[in-house]
Amino acid sequence: MKIAAIIGSTRRDSYNYKIAQHIQKRYIHQFDLEILNIGELPFYNQDTENSPSPEVVTFKQKVADADAVLWVTPEYNATIPGVLKNAIDWLSRVNQVMIGKPSWIIGASMGALGTVKAQAHLRDILFAPGLSSPVLPGNEVVIGHVHHKLDDNGNLVDEGTVSFLDKVTENMVTWIEQQQTTVNH
Ligand code: FNR
Repeated sequence: MKIAAIIGSTRRDSYNYKIAQHIQKRYIHQFDLEILNIGELPFYNQDTENSPSPEVVTFKQKVADADAVLWVTPEYNATIPGVLKNAIDWLSRVNQVMIGKPSWIIGASMGALGTVKAQAHLRDILFAPGLSSPVLPGNEVVIGHVHHKLDDNGNLVDEGTVSFLDKVTENMVTWIEQQQTTVNH
């Protein structure tokens, strides 16, 4: 199984990026997780959507080739960061590579409830016609106080979060397989 991870932060020491790396390493025997780079994408412009830059072409192809997309995002000003919305707008046009592709949403923030609003907005955005991506029902992963849950090397060490992610990941893998069965029959 191949999963494409899209991180809503391009910050060098992003906590959300570290959570994605945890998932990449811990479940390496269950799926191949590739973390995509959205920081190099140009601003979406309808004038260029039919002849986009090589970064856009590669990005969309990697999403098209994945069995599912994992979104790991912070919350900026009560919604998703602009860099993430830009990437989503590219995905929603011309070859609409998200249509029918399962999505899995995770968010981490330094506050207690951070990313709740961003995650709700992201679910709503993924419901738009150009995206039409089914989102794993339930299994909401809001990682609050994330800076207390990583060690100095950026490893996720909070046992409760690690075991919760184990359970949700198991649910996600089962659900993606069910989605594929539904699509193939
Ligand atoms: C934030 N942050 C933030 N946190 C939150 O819980 N709700 C919010 O609305 C916001 N808004 C916000 C706006 C902007 C412009 C910045 C830079 C930050 C704090 C944010 O959660 C924190 O910086 C995270 O560490 C960002 O995630 P990464 O970069 O560590 O993955």
